[in-house]
Amino acid sequence: MPQFAAMTAFEDILHTIAPELKELNERMLCALHTSNPLMNDIVSNYLATKGKQIRPVMVLLSAKLFGGINATAMHGAAAIEMLHNASLIHDDVVDETPLRRGQPTINAIWDNHIAVLVGDFFVSMSLQEALLTDNLDMISTIGALGRQLSLGEIDQINKARNHHFEEDAYLEVIDNKTASLFVACVRMGALATNAPKDQTERMERFGRLIGLAFQIRDDIFDYFSDSSELGKPTGNDLREGKVTLPLLYALHRQDMPDSKEMNELVRRDELTPSEIERLIDYAKRAGGIDYAYGRMQKLRDEAAEIISEFPDTPTRSAFMDIFDYIIHRTY
Ligand code: IPE
Ligand code: IPE
Ligand code: MG
Ligand code: MG
Ligand code: MG
Repeated sequence: MPQFAAMTAFEDILHTIAPELKELNERMLCALHTSNPLMNDIVSNYLATKGKQIRPVMVLLSAKLFGGINATAMHGAAAIEMLHNASLIHDDVVDETPLRRGQPTINAIWDNHIAVLVGDFFVSMSLQEALLTDNLDMISTIGALGRQLSLGEIDQINKARNHHFEEDAYLEVIDNKTASLFVACVRMGALATNAPKDQTERMERFGRLIGLAFQIRDDIFDYFSDSSELGKPTGNDLREGKVTLPLLYALHRQDMPDSKEMNELVRRDELTPSEIERLIDYAKRAGGIDYAYGRMQKLRDEAAEIISEFPDTPTRSAFMDIFDYIIHRTY
């Protein structure tokens, strides 16, 4: 699917659930309001710039697929988006990132101490929001998700430190730190509408594949410095020793004349900006970007097969449109 068509299809989906998304954003703003002036300053400034909100969209679409959007699904969607934001606020501390969504990060404006606390605040409010569903499985989904996200993040650091550069290890990390959230999204929608267990599990498998593709696409962004739309810095991953799919593939291409040299280089403790440039260039020359696109396409085909078991409805098509959007998105 061409890029433009994928973007338009995603905008069309947003349009169909615009009132629900509006309500969701009002709910979050309201839930995160406190009597503390500093917290309010930070939170309202942060919420003024929204992300793509793919995850709450997935919760709502899943509810739609299984019956219809209801108040429980709305609370579930809000809890998910809050936990996602918590993970971003903490991620920017961990990755020492100064920019997100085109705006200075909380750690950049107010420093790490404040960012850690604000992230904690978002985690707690996500759980509070989940409580409003009055559904133990949904509350437990949020609790388990928080655990899995932190394990994924710490596993990523551990694997970078140990120079564990295998595709399986990479997939395990992105499964935990990213795909788990997408699994939770469809699960929340299914739980909110009392969907049958087997169909819920089917959608969870779809959610996992879309989540893996989402992170592979995100990792590709990091190889290009001209992503002005992206709103966050690129070239960051390698600076922290994180080797993602394109380079990972390239490092295993022993037929490349400089493969041995690049494998030695990537194992150095600290990389200079020019060394990072060399590795990025190598990944591209060795076909790493194309490989990563191919990998996403495979995930997409697998996902299409899984979702084809559901009746052919506009909501089912919307899920595939989101998958295409994720592969072709520019930010
Ligand atoms: C960023 O997620 C974190 C990753 C899993 C790569 P998004 O790109 O969905 O962030 P926002 O919410 O749209 O800003
Ligand atoms: C995904 O990893 C982040 C989370 C799971 C929170 P990244 O570190 O690549 O995300 P970005 O690129 O900063 O959004
Ligand atoms: Mg990170
Ligand atoms: Mg990051
Ligand atoms: Mg990234």
